[in-house]
Amino acid sequence: MKIGLGSDHNALHLKDYIKAYIEETTDIEVVDYGCYSEDEVDYPDVAFEVAEAIGEEKLDRGILFCGTGLGVAIAANKYPGIRAATTHDVYSAERAQLSNNAQIITLGAQIVGYEVAKKVVDAYLTSFWADGSKRKVDKIIEKEQELIKKSR
Ligand code: RB5
Repeated sequence: MKIGLGSDHNALHLKDYIKAYIEETTDIEVVDYGCYSEDEVDYPDVAFEVAEAIGEEKLDRGILFCGTGLGVAIAANKYPGIRAATTHDVYSAERAQLSNNAQIITLGAQIVGYEVAKKVVDAYLTSFWADGSKRKVDKIIEKEQELIKKSR
């Protein structure tokens, strides 16, 4: 599996911590989309980059971080075909894959600490969609396609 990580400046420390954690504890290939310093970064810019790489099949999944986890989720979900879910607990992180086939989870560094974030990431990365709630996920995909066509 290849995953992309990205954060704004508010979550740089958590993104870097989780990057090191994944690299130390798994065989997953991690691509770091920044940010790389505490200089202010607009969270949509990072979220769009990771979402686009997933859309172009350069990545299998992504984990995005900002202060709340909300802004990066809202931004990533604008990218066609992307399902990004904000998950601050283990159950949601599992269900993001199992029920929603979410290619991205998002976390807020102002909401969770390192230990909770590790558990959430573990739960997400060890859960694999197996057509759970396929009818419902398909409806989301179909509606998106319909709206894209209408807007042309
Ligand atoms: C943090 O308060 C916030 O502005 C930013 O990091 C992000 O969470 C936005 O949604």
